[in-house]
Formats: sequence, structure tokens, C-alpha cells
Amino acid sequence: MTQDELKQLVGQAAADYVNANVPEGAVIGVGTGSTANCFIDALAATKHRYRGAVSSSLATTTRLQSHGFKVLDLNEIDSLPVYVDGADEIDHSGAMIKGGGGALTREKIVASVSDVFVCIADTTKRVDVLGQFPLPVEVVPMARTAIGRRVTALGGVPVVRVTKDGAPFITDNGNEIIDIKGLKIGDPRALEAQINAWPGVVTVGLFAGRGANLCLLGTDTGVETIQYPRD
Ligand code: A5P
Repeated sequence: MTQDELKQLVGQAAADYVNANVPEGAVIGVGTGSTANCFIDALAATKHRYRGAVSSSLATTTRLQSHGFKVLDLNEIDSLPVYVDGADEIDHSGAMIKGGGGALTREKIVASVSDVFVCIADTTKRVDVLGQFPLPVEVVPMARTAIGRRVTALGGVPVVRVTKDGAPFITDNGNEIIDIKGLKIGDPRALEAQINAWPGVVTVGLFAGRGANLCLLGTDTGVETIQYPRD
């Protein structure tokens, strides 16, 4: 199967999971990216079961609305039974690198409110040690260089994300992204806490403290369901 076919497979598996486990009238948390898009497309067939969705990016909001989903502000919501999103990497404990699409801050906020985080991914995303994929960090623009120095001291290589035109990539929140190359992340929770504490960091794309509860992993032989114990 191609990677696109695997994404469609897990998108449908996530829609089936949500339809089977989430009560009618609930609000669904929805992630960002090409795999999350497959989930949105698959869930559209049963959208009338749900009161609406909370979105993790402007791009996801547009896609949800194109299918007729009601998009609700997180401030109107007390709880979310489930959050479904892709990942750039996921390890054996359910810790992830996210933010390749630049939506890490809103993704982390919506995920933090959810009861169950369902990660949807293909086998290329499963790793033993996080860090082969550059670790995104959303930063307030005036802190870009100061944070870059801290990244270098940590042993990583800071690369400011740019658009095709060479201009700084700007997030939905008006900030910039530094992608950290060259890290082997042995203790994702500790690194998440360390980088979060740097002044000017809005969000680090390590999702370890609030990792996935479940991964629906697309493989050539079908969808593998992996559960992770969480405290
Ligand atoms: C968006 O900012 C990311 O966190 C995505 O969830 C992640 O990059 C996975 O994207 P794909 O499903 O497109 O690979």
C-alpha cells in the first residue's frame, strides 16, 4: 500500500473507533495534517451524530466546515471525549513529535482537554527513539535567536522554518517555528519540560506528558491497535 492509502485506512479506522466509542451529541477534538484530513473525510458520513468539533488549526477548521461540521470554540466546551490526530513520530510509550504542519500549539491545547488521545499514523512514523524528525518549537519572534543559542548548547541544530518564498513561516498564532535537528531524545518528558521553561517558547512539539492513549497504526496487513498505559 502507498503511504496515502495507509493514511486513508487509519482515517477510516479512527472514524469507526469514534462512532463506536463516543456517545451521540458529543464534541470531537480534531487534529491537523494529511492523516487528520483523512479522518475528517471519513467522519463526514456520520457527522450528524455529533454536536460539532473543536479544531486545532485554521486549515482543519476550513476542512471541517467544507463537510458541514459545526466548529466550536474550545472555550464553549467543558470536556472532549476524544482527540484524533496524526504524528510525525511516535515511540513505544506513546510519546510523539508533532508540529510538522506548524499546528503544535493548538494541537497541544485541544489534546490537553481530551479524555482519550487517538494517534493515527502509518508505520513510517513509529520509532524506537524520537528525534530523527526535526523537533518543532513555536517561539515568540523576538526570542528566536536567544532560543537558537539554547538549542545549540543542548547539542541540537536550530533551523528557522521558512515558506517556499524564503519568508519566516508564521503560525496561526502569529509566531515562528524553530525546527531542531540532530537530537536523540532519550527522555521525552524531561526534554519537554526543559524546553517549555525557556523564555519565549510558546510550545515544544514533544507530546510526552500528554502522550497518546491509543495508536491506530496503518500497516501493509491492516490496522494495528496499540494501547499505552498513561498516568
Ligand atoms: C501538524 O502540525 C502536525 O502535528 C501533524 O499532526 C503531523 O505533522 C502529522 O502530519 P501528517 O499526517 O500530514 O503526516
